[in-house]
Amino acid sequence: MRLRNIPGSRERIAQSPYVIPEASLPEHRGAWREVFGSDRPIRLEIGMGKGRFLIDMARQNPDVSFLGIEKYSSVLIRALDKREECSDLDNLYFLRMDAADLTEVFAPGEISMIYLNFSDPWPKERHAGRRLPGPLFLDRYRQILPPDGQVRFKTDNTGLFAFAVESARSRNWQILSCTEDLHHDPQLCEGNVMTEYEERFSAAGHPICQLVLSPPLAAG
Ligand SMILES: C[S@@+](CC[C@H](N)C(=O)[O-])C[C@H]1O[C@@H](n2cnc3c(N)ncnc32)[C@H](O)[C@@H]1O
Repeated sequence: MRLRNIPGSRERIAQSPYVIPEASLPEHRGAWREVFGSDRPIRLEIGMGKGRFLIDMARQNPDVSFLGIEKYSSVLIRALDKREECSDLDNLYFLRMDAADLTEVFAPGEISMIYLNFSDPWPKERHAGRRLPGPLFLDRYRQILPPDGQVRFKTDNTGLFAFAVESARSRNWQILSCTEDLHHDPQLCEGNVMTEYEERFSAAGHPICQLVLSPPLAAG
């Protein structure tokens, strides 16, 4: 998703109390709990889009801190519109950054869970390295998660889903659960929070796939 450039969006993002200033991101590496002023575990959504999932999750889980990463200011500004209506939430900040830079911003084990919701499929082979559930990104996620951390990926795109499963296998990630029809699996769907894309695609009759991973077991 890339929306038309919105004049003034960069300035508004720079002034928002809900967006961590871009230039300061590496300074928080290893100290993100201080940003929240709390020892709560920290979960990340990468490619949060318009942010509804994170706002609902933050509301339902006050004992967890949430960070939303989005590459484009024009998209982040939409999430900011919603965030500003929830000034009572003290457990949610947004970051405008590219997920390729994750390890420069987060220290080993600092993030307990990563959500990838309806990631862009990048269908052309020459763009495969940009797919967020791909092996290059799994290697980055492994560096910032603890051994019992999780990556939770949802999509309606069966090609991207198969690629994610194959990527996980190729990097020896543990597959904790895998379904190609989340909404009809009462056990796996329990507590599921829908994203904007999920609502749109499931309303159009697309089954929703979900893959839950944990990092590879240490050798020995
Ligand atoms: C298809 S949208 C999904 C939005 C939302 N997660 C949902 O499910 O409704 C994917 C989002 O990921 C963002 N994105 C793609 N690659 C990214 C990257 N490398 N770093 C940060 N965000 C990225 C895009 O800009 C877009 O907003």
